[in-house]
Amino acid sequence: MEVIETIKKTRAAIAKARPGGRTIGFVPTMGALHEGHFSLIKAAKEQTEFVVVSIFVNPTQFGPNEDIDKYPRPFEADVKACEKLGVDIVFAPTAEQMYPQENITWINVEKVTEPLCGKNRPGHFRGVATVCAKLFNIIQPDKAFFGQKDAQQAVVIKQMVADLNLPLEIIVCPTVREKDGLAISSRNRYLDAEQRKQAALLYAALQEAELFINAGQRKSSELISQMEKILRIGKRIKIEYISIVDAKTLDELDEAKGSSLIALAAKIGTARLIDNIVLDIE
Ligand code: PAJ
Repeated sequence: MEVIETIKKTRAAIAKARPGGRTIGFVPTMGALHEGHFSLIKAAKEQTEFVVVSIFVNPTQFGPNEDIDKYPRPFEADVKACEKLGVDIVFAPTAEQMYPQENITWINVEKVTEPLCGKNRPGHFRGVATVCAKLFNIIQPDKAFFGQKDAQQAVVIKQMVADLNLPLEIIVCPTVREKDGLAISSRNRYLDAEQRKQAALLYAALQEAELFINAGQRKSSELISQMEKILRIGKRIKIEYISIVDAKTLDELDEAKGSSLIALAAKIGTARLIDNIVLDIE
């Protein structure tokens, strides 16, 4: 496995790997790798022949109130984990490599960036789409792997790839969870013992909605109030949003139908956690 910092060397290493029609798989990350990331790497290993993982804490997707300097950077452990999983290249550029001059060219995906997390994180998805477009241009993968955990991010990237005719396929992999259902996230480390216990209620609330839907309830307002009841059990949970939207367009649904995304965001202490499920409803 090679660990490469520069764009030039990464391009050269990938050019060497590509001949013979070898397919390139790409997993973009911000590091602090955990089982969620590992599942994407494993999927890439299964579906492609040469796997590139990027580790880059992208400054353009952090808001002014979001502390990028506090983002965990256990770089050596990340590299070891990639090596163990059989990754071929870790691309770990500096911010100067990725943004050598003031960036004035942005990818603004409209509409699907507005609801859900878009409301409270202005500019976030612009930064994500732009850095992913840059990374796709550097690596030129056949397939890139994203997690369902960040459902809106996956929708935004799929839309960008379709709208700009980018020559790669986006594969979305299932959310990996702890035993009690909590979606694995690098932010879970900010929870104290009590907060961590309460964090399990996020997935419990989503499961409650699924139960009600299976019992015939379709009204979003009813489903949301059932979920609020569950979340209110956790006194430290501050709900940011609970939404039921079309899984592809992210248009709000008054009634759950078709492929419906039930998504929520909440703050517990300083950690902002998100989770979601997608249900196919007849
Ligand atoms: P990061 O938060 O490091 O996540 C990298 C990828 O791992 C994303 O596609 C995310 O959805 C996936 N992931 C995280 N937790 C997961 C879990 N519990 N189960 C399954 N997949 C999970 O998302 C980003 O980085 C950045 O925005 C990035 C795309 C790298 C652009 O900077």
